[in-house]
Amino acid sequence: MGSIEGLTIRTFRDEDLDRVVYINRTCLPENYGTYFFLEIHENYPKTFLVAEVDGRVVGYIMCRTEYGSSNFKRLSIVKKGHVISIAVLPEYRRRGIGTALLTHCLKNLEEYGAKECFLEVRVSNEVAKSLYSKLGFKSVGKIGGYYFDGEDALIMSVKLPLEMQARTPSESQR
Ligand code: COA
Repeated sequence: MGSIEGLTIRTFRDEDLDRVVYINRTCLPENYGTYFFLEIHENYPKTFLVAEVDGRVVGYIMCRTEYGSSNFKRLSIVKKGHVISIAVLPEYRRRGIGTALLTHCLKNLEEYGAKECFLEVRVSNEVAKSLYSKLGFKSVGKIGGYYFDGEDALIMSVKLPLEMQARTPSESQR
């Protein structure tokens, strides 16, 4: 995982916009207007990251922070990271790029004071669920009919900082 040749994880820049929009539209049915990407970048620059392989952007992750009920401590309100979107182009998958994007993003969420991180994932998205489980995310709930086509979302959450065993070599090299 630490030996992904030519891989750089870095923060989004305005000039990445077209490429990130392309990756989002290629990989996911949940698409956003350009304004949304720029707004996330303006408000959460440390947690809008791109993965570059040999100078070409091939994946991205966007997270923001929110206050809400803790998924781990009853009756507590905490600052939580929220993964809005993550995608890697099909031809670059299964090389650890998704893991590298997510681990870097979780680390940077700590800098924003997040104590937990959560996300929604389609109940049928076994690949993404497997990625999140490997990093220690647990299922904490379900939202019926969350997606535009009626599919349910699983809510998965993890405490920050990540447990050491969930960290990957690429993350620990930062
Ligand atoms: N089949 C089964 N499990 C898979 C898989 C596949 N084709 N690809 C990845 N995984 C799981 C594995 O558990 C893998 O760990 P392993 O390689 O040690 O077995 C783990 O995910 C991490 O894989 P990684 O290589 O780091 O992820 P990736 O770079 O391939 O990116 C996604 C993963 C989910 C970002 C990518 O598949 C993608 O862009 N999917 C479409 C968009 C999407 O579904 N986003 C998530 C929305 S919630």
